[in-house]
Amino acid sequence: MQVQFKLKRFNSETNAKAYWSDHTVEIEPTDRVLDALNFIKWNLDPTLAYRRSCAHGICGSDALVINGRNRLACKFLMKQALKESKVITVEPLRGFPVLKDLVVDMEGFFAKYRAVKPYLINHEREPEKERAQSAEQHARFDFTTPCILCAACTTSCPTFWADKEYLGPAAIVQAHRFIFDSRDQGGQERLAILADSGGVFTCRSIFNCVEACPRGIDITRAIYEVRQKMLFDKT
Ligand code: SF4
Ligand code: F3S
Ligand code: FES
Repeated sequence: MQVQFKLKRFNSETNAKAYWSDHTVEIEPTDRVLDALNFIKWNLDPTLAYRRSCAHGICGSDALVINGRNRLACKFLMKQALKESKVITVEPLRGFPVLKDLVVDMEGFFAKYRAVKPYLINHEREPEKERAQSAEQHARFDFTTPCILCAACTTSCPTFWADKEYLGPAAIVQAHRFIFDSRDQGGQERLAILADSGGVFTCRSIFNCVEACPRGIDITRAIYEVRQKMLFDKT
């Protein structure tokens, strides 16, 4: 079948105004939107720029605004997209500078990720085997471990668009993953960072982030639990 696509294009090197390019794509309903972007690049316009790698929802590199909502292009089927609109629109993530076409500058996003110390902190001598953890202890943070750092949540958040200091939901999810890990000893350091301006209290409970997450992470639960720990549990 043939499907019409409209792609938002821009080149920061020329700084010419952003514009929409139109393409007719030969595609099947069971293909993904990423297949359509590949078709355009490989057959119609090799200058099109977009990120992709795994094509299976694991690497997090192809989060895009598809039909007005944040999605992973490799997980969103053409038949789902066509239920919403006959003409499929694809735009870069909102709130980040656009480098070229659908590619945004993620440096600010990863700087905020690094700011919450997203790694195990433990000052004790390493055990000879693994650091043991019970199933119950693991369950405490298990729901934040599937994050693939795609930025779909952060770039769907109006608070993030308005306040560039806000660390954003993705950074809080990553902090949660370590704060509640029984093997980690850096919780208080992270909580101090998240208590500052731009931290968890900047969230206005808009909930766009939950809807945008392709991994189904309950992001507002993570934000709530970090706040609760900060306010009521000093252990
Ligand atoms: Fe992507 Fe979900 Fe992680 Fe946000 S929490 S970066 S939407 S996987
Ligand atoms: Fe933004 Fe999600 Fe909070 S959309 S305001 S981080 S609930
Ligand atoms: Fe890796 Fe889509 S290409 S998540």
